[in-house]
Amino acid sequence: MNGGTLAIRARILTFDGDPRLDPAATTYIEDGLVIVREGVVEALGEARDLVPALPHDCRVVDHRPHLLMPGFIDPHLHMPQTQVIASYGTELLEWLSRYTFPEESRYGDKSVSDAAARFVLSELLANGTTTAVFFCTSHPQSVDSLMTEAERRGLRILAGKVMMDRGAPPSLLDTPRRGYDESKALIERWHGRGRLSYAISPRFAPTSTEAQLEATGALAAEFPDMAIQTHLSENLAEIAYVRELFPWAQDYLAVYERYGLVREKALFGHCIHLTEREKASLAEAGASAIFCPTSNLFLGSGLFDRAGLLAAGIRTGIATDIGGGTSYSMLATAGEGYKALALRHQKLPALQAFHWMTAGNAAAIGLGKRIGRIAPGFEADFALLDSSATPAMRRRMERVETLGEELFLLMTMGDDRAVAATYANGRRVHARGGAAALPPV
Ligand code: GUN
Ligand code: ZN
Repeated sequence: MNGGTLAIRARILTFDGDPRLDPAATTYIEDGLVIVREGVVEALGEARDLVPALPHDCRVVDHRPHLLMPGFIDPHLHMPQTQVIASYGTELLEWLSRYTFPEESRYGDKSVSDAAARFVLSELLANGTTTAVFFCTSHPQSVDSLMTEAERRGLRILAGKVMMDRGAPPSLLDTPRRGYDESKALIERWHGRGRLSYAISPRFAPTSTEAQLEATGALAAEFPDMAIQTHLSENLAEIAYVRELFPWAQDYLAVYERYGLVREKALFGHCIHLTEREKASLAEAGASAIFCPTSNLFLGSGLFDRAGLLAAGIRTGIATDIGGGTSYSMLATAGEGYKALALRHQKLPALQAFHWMTAGNAAAIGLGKRIGRIAPGFEADFALLDSSATPAMRRRMERVETLGEELFLLMTMGDDRAVAATYANGRRVHARGGAAALPPV
């Protein structure tokens, strides 16, 4: 499956804009064709219009009746936490010290980080996720492992080594100088190489001294277009701790603001307990707030206020937050997001959820012109979904009459079983049940 032109026939869904604001921005083609050349979408349209004009050497794969959509984007997860998921009984700060930091301490070992990188990328592809933004550990090796594996598979990912110089076991700590130098060396090695990008990654305010935040701000200023990722206002005890550590700051966000870390493509995980000032400031800066519903429910952190953040004009994303989060599936994440929002008496219509997982997350991480849509010039990353994947789904499908109902079923009942195949960079990188279970490409 190298070179040449590939045409995929399927039901096709993509969003050219947010269906919350523009109902006409949703494109759904019942018998559609997408033509891919050299990893990029060349054309999208009705099969009856495009099939007659296909080049004679074009390979055609027929995936009807499955639903082809842009690959999912997961804008916040932790590569070294695949063996932290399902750790019992704690809230954030105890969960970090009891489970997470000891586990992350293992990642100085190349064999540990190589194995985790292989696993996490395979698992994401099995779930239809083609782009993700990863926190690695403080060990530069963990970034090398992940980037090497993502490059081998042709994936567009973002990742960074966490910078942390206090509040954790010594084996995980860097220093302001080392955090800066190691991050810079990784940027030089990986940023912009093929489909890989670096994300500057101060873990969160409690694990960085002011000297480290200062050095992080200097790095961010040297790379003004680079993504930054951290955590913000996830848990009430965390917020109280930040108030103790930074008595001069009027609120949590003010710590990051002081060091120039609040800007476009700055991704703030959680953002649950924000003040009005913090909301106004995030909106003004064009920063992104990332909703992590399974994590927020699992760690008892609180309930994200989607309606309030949207009303404030803040760009938002939705993510798994593995391993505080409990599922690799963006479908399951959206389904849990629906429930978490319901507890705040808010709604998450299915079309908006699918837009959020694709074009919405692409915009939130600053890649809205490259990924997240099926459109000419966009990178050919797709998820192929099977709405009748299980007996329970098939039975429920018998009563489904609209696309909205079908999508809501997928996000409520779906997971990796509903992902029939995944394409990245124009190549099939996952086939449910093995390559023989699908038509050849
Ligand atoms: N805040 C700082 N580090 C972490 C982490 O690893 N997971 C979560 N959920 N929150 C954090
Ligand atoms: Zn996180």
